Amino acid sequence: MKKYIYSWCLLGAIVYSCKTQQSTSASASASSTDLTKSEMLKKGEDLFNLRCGRCHDLPAPSQFTAADWEPIMARMAPKAKLSADETNWVSAYVNANAKK
Ligand code: HEC
Repeated sequence: MKKYIYSWCLLGAIVYSCKTQQSTSASASASSTDLTKSEMLKKGEDLFNLRCGRCHDLPAPSQFTAADWEPIMARMAPKAKLSADETNWVSAYVNANAKK
């Protein structure tokens, strides 16, 4: 009987620790994953207008197809010193408005 109670306590402890782990990891990544698609596009647009017209005229997203933008963003994101999240947002913005 003692063993039975002990194993339930153990099980409870395991379940509890899993739960707390889940909640902490969820809140840690909330800043990037909890954004809605339109919030991401808005952030991408703002960053694009702010950071991508410094060295040359601001390009229009519709000047290039999404396939063209991929290598361009890979070259320009480090130039504009975008973080990984910011690069994703700007890419989402240009892709959403790219030449079809
Ligand atoms: C530090 C300066 C600098 C910043 C900031 C910068 N660029 Fe550029 N960009 C360049 C230079 C230099 C070139 C021309 C050489 C090249 O294509 O790599 C260029 C070229 C381009 C081209 C033309 C590419 C082609 O193949 O015709 C596009 C489009 C472009 N940049 C978009 C962007 C976007 C979007 C951002 C913001 C994420 C950005 N740039 C930020 C320096 C910069």
